[in-house]
Amino acid sequence: MVTDGGNVHAEHVVVATNMTVKSPVGMARRTQPRMHTAIAFRINDPGVVDGMFIGIDEPTHSIRTGRDAEGPLLVVLGPKFNTGHDGDVARRFVELEAWARRQLPVGEAVWRWCNEDYDTPDRVAYVGTPDREKAPGFHIATGFNAWGISNGSAAGLMIAGLVAGQSSPWENLYDPARPYPEDFHKDGDSQTIVSGFDTIPPGGGGVVVSGDKKIAAWRDGGGALHAVSATCTHKGCTVTWNNADRTWDCPCHGSIFAADGSVLHGPARKPLQRIDV
Ligand SMILES: Cc1cc2nc3c(=O)[nH]c(=O)nc-3n(C[C@H](O)[C@H](O)[C@H](O)COP(=O)(O)OP(=O)(O)OC[C@H]3O[C@@H](n4cnc5c(N)ncnc54)[C@H](O)[C@@H]3O)c2cc1C
Ligand code: FES
Repeated sequence: MVTDGGNVHAEHVVVATNMTVKSPVGMARRTQPRMHTAIAFRINDPGVVDGMFIGIDEPTHSIRTGRDAEGPLLVVLGPKFNTGHDGDVARRFVELEAWARRQLPVGEAVWRWCNEDYDTPDRVAYVGTPDREKAPGFHIATGFNAWGISNGSAAGLMIAGLVAGQSSPWENLYDPARPYPEDFHKDGDSQTIVSGFDTIPPGGGGVVVSGDKKIAAWRDGGGALHAVSATCTHKGCTVTWNNADRTWDCPCHGSIFAADGSVLHGPARKPLQRIDV
């Protein structure tokens, strides 16, 4: 394995980077990246919700308790949406907070974030050795369909067994190279194309198309404009501005870049190129 810090030689390598950043069998079209909005509210009584609950109605919400250094929390998640396919993620947080305040005895909203996970066509994760001929010691675990605490534990047990030379009855079920429907994965285009830099307000961002160039620009609170290439360094799709997290989200395979273009989440491994405007 080649890294920025040098070459690593190993008999077995496990790539469990949410979306695989490398694999001898392509994972991009076998998976669909999607997000939930999540808010953690302060609560007085940690016993107010006894367990974890997911609604059966649409749009779906889920709730569970948590804790930070200040005390107990109620963590509420909204309905899922494909990464980079929504040009107004902030609206989802407004809707989620309003829903939570209608339904639950919540106090101050203290944490907000978008999570990301990968769906698979049959709702089963991809775990194991994708190509035993070409890369016999190369193992992956991805596509947890938002159930990576339980599936990730199963993946850990199974891959540990494979490394120790043991076969597992789960190998066929989780086979990362199993057939998949060609029309499952949905690429997308930027949802935040704007007509010019002048239209971007402080705190906002958008993609300006100028000839064959696509420029991803955002304006900070002081009014200064910051720009990077809008072309994702994974396979070249055009990123969408996430107006809640202030990130550039790729609508194809779920890479997430910070406002300054640095990589926050793969499969991209290189930053968006800085541009002077
Ligand atoms: C609020 C909430 C509640 C949840 N509840 C449940 C539940 O009840 N049950 C359940 O089963 N699941 C649950 N999940 C889902 C579960 O947390 C995820 O599915 C799981 O964490 C995904 O695991 P992962 O190992 O694939 O990815 P991650 O946990 O994202 O781990 C990937 C790791 O790879 C590292 N990485 C990424 N890129 C690179 C790189 N290029 N080089 C080196 N390292 C890299 C990252 O830093 C990270 O540490 C919940 C999620 C949320 C947000
Ligand atoms: S994540 Fe694949 S093109 Fe952006």
